[in-house]
Amino acid sequence: MPDTNAQNCTITLEGKNYEFPVITGTEGEKAIDISKLRDTTGYVTLDIGYKNTGATKSAITFLDGEEGILRHRGYSIEDLAEKANFLEVSYLLLKGELPNKEQFEDFDNSVRHHTLVNEDLQNIFRTFPTGSHPMGQLIAMISSLSAYYPKALDPHRSPEAKNRTTLRLMAKMPTICAMIYKKRLGHPVVYPNNNLDYVSNFLSMTFKHVSDADYQPDPVIVDAMNKLLILHADHEQNCSASTVRLVGSSQSNLYATTAAGIAALWGPLHGGANQEVLEMLEQIKGDGGNVQKWVDKAKDKNDPFRLMGFGHRVYKNFDPRAKIIKKTCDDVLNKLGINDPVLEIAKKLEEAALTDPYFAERKLYPNVDFYSGIIYRAMGFPTEMFTALFAVGRLPGWIAQWQEMVQENQPIGRPRQIYTGHMPRTFIPRGERQ
Ligand code: ACO
Repeated sequence: MPDTNAQNCTITLEGKNYEFPVITGTEGEKAIDISKLRDTTGYVTLDIGYKNTGATKSAITFLDGEEGILRHRGYSIEDLAEKANFLEVSYLLLKGELPNKEQFEDFDNSVRHHTLVNEDLQNIFRTFPTGSHPMGQLIAMISSLSAYYPKALDPHRSPEAKNRTTLRLMAKMPTICAMIYKKRLGHPVVYPNNNLDYVSNFLSMTFKHVSDADYQPDPVIVDAMNKLLILHADHEQNCSASTVRLVGSSQSNLYATTAAGIAALWGPLHGGANQEVLEMLEQIKGDGGNVQKWVDKAKDKNDPFRLMGFGHRVYKNFDPRAKIIKKTCDDVLNKLGINDPVLEIAKKLEEAALTDPYFAERKLYPNVDFYSGIIYRAMGFPTEMFTALFAVGRLPGWIAQWQEMVQENQPIGRPRQIYTGHMPRTFIPRGERQ
């Protein structure tokens, strides 16, 4: 248990001393609890981009950016990626413990039970113009589930009802993503096959042709997909998880709250980076493959170009997920016998950036998104689907973060600001204004 109140912190303001408790987490992380700062001193803290703000206590995920450590509920990401499957890790995030055999079977069966979506959802798909971005469609589709399950709108619903919404989201997310993929191709939708495990079912709905009765997902791809989803499953208070907590804190329903998380993930500085990485590599290839030219562009302060897939807000040594995924990437490409010229560009870029003092000084290393896109591409996913795949992986993390917030009865999220606008002004009627 965190050792609260072990020490205090003294803050001096306008010559007066104020005491605030220091909170220590289980891994020794320390925070000054300033929740009473404004009441006692009249001051607020200012931390644009929340670079140094702890928004919550949480028992879900621990990460140490300096040491490159990531653990879920105490288990290392290396162990989970190597020894567990995605549904097991989802259970761990959602329930706090790894499932035993019966618990896993029960969870797995419950998820399988909910994989179908209402047929009317197809009508919504018909309204999207051809080529509309999968993430825009995914936000709309997940949000629209609230229309099919109106009881889930009640913020004071029972634990059973909350559990059912969680199962529905976990089960329907891959179905909806696969539908988006099929609709983009103009192909008929492939219905879930509930004899298949979670990942195989997703791959089957995505890559099986409706007339191909013999489709079997490649075990190499099933394994890699499990790893990719695990590596994306949670990452404590990142932009989308914080969005989920903030939106959920107003007691908005879980479907709308998840849709907000997906919207936050879409941006190129967050989950959208995996699509941007591949587009950047293609651009470099199309431009003649001169990697140094693009490294120089990234360093040029007058050029807005950034090396996508490099840098991370919290990892300032290496991203442990990138290490695992890099190996998975090599395995998949070797086993599938893929010789991708874009991978050669990626390797050269990685090498050039890692040896360049600009990147070393700023502690910019390849992040998880640098490699994930290359694997997704080898699996056959189009670039525009990449961020939607990230969303499939991140879903249990978002729900776990939301659950924790609800269980702890946390108040509505409502930051303060420092106003920098005009002082009071006299209103001048429209006709008299200069
Ligand atoms: N290429 C070139 N320079 C970079 C890059 C990059 N990818 N990332 C950061 N820098 C530079 C900045 O220009 C800045 O330089 P300066 O100190 O000379 O001004 C310095 O490094 C610090 O950068 P910040 O933007 O302040 O770092 P912050 O923590 O706010 O941003 C972020 C982190 C958004 C991930 C950033 O590194 C970035 O834009 N990376 C590319 C996008 C990306 O890959 N996003 C995926 C993140 S992982 C994920 O969401 C799953």
